[in-house]
Amino acid sequence: MASDSDPHFKEIKACVFDAYGTLFDVHSAIRHGGEELGDKADEVSELWRQKQLEYTWLRSLMGAHTDFWQVTADSLDFALSATGANSAGLHQRLMDLYLTLDAYPEVEGILRGLKSAGLATAILSNGSPRMLSAAVESAGLQPALDLVLSVEDVGIYKPDSRVYQLAVDRLDLSRESICFLSSNGWDARGAAYFGFSVAWVNRFRREPDRLPGELGATISTLADLPPLLGIG
Ligand code: LAC
Repeated sequence: MASDSDPHFKEIKACVFDAYGTLFDVHSAIRHGGEELGDKADEVSELWRQKQLEYTWLRSLMGAHTDFWQVTADSLDFALSATGANSAGLHQRLMDLYLTLDAYPEVEGILRGLKSAGLATAILSNGSPRMLSAAVESAGLQPALDLVLSVEDVGIYKPDSRVYQLAVDRLDLSRESICFLSSNGWDARGAAYFGFSVAWVNRFRREPDRLPGELGATISTLADLPPLLGIG
């Protein structure tokens, strides 16, 4: 890489991205299909996401894995019921919209730039293969991605180290030469603890998690990534 890259990111050969919240806006489903929720829309969307993540962690601890589509459906069911917002057809409509989430505006251009600079690009996500390929296709990101990796290959969720190891094995690169990007603070810490070079994409201006794993950098959006790598 170019010599003016950040010292934490000097030997990077690949950029590996979390999907939901990092490349894709999980709140876009309710933005596009939740009009009837009125002033409950944000509360439902936040609760849906919070429960979705909790269920991944809890199912991993329980040894009761089921795929992310089911977890996403279960957590939406919880969120609609807990807020008294359930109505005929709404659950199905919102699930359908989860397959065509909006990508954040900078994503496609950044991915293309990384590839032009000779870096490999990949997704490493809790999403099931069907969910990920639908979202990638809907956002037109296929040409800019070399690999789309799903936790379904190991049957446990992040931040289990077997998930992060998938990227090492499939890219055939050392941990440190992989730049991992996630907007989820706990995922960024998990990946750093595993040994990736991590940039936390703090899109939502969250408080840093008190967890092990040293972050290489904290950035606001993926537009801040190329300078870290000494590109452009
Ligand atoms: C993912 C979740 C953590 O895409 O956002 O893996």
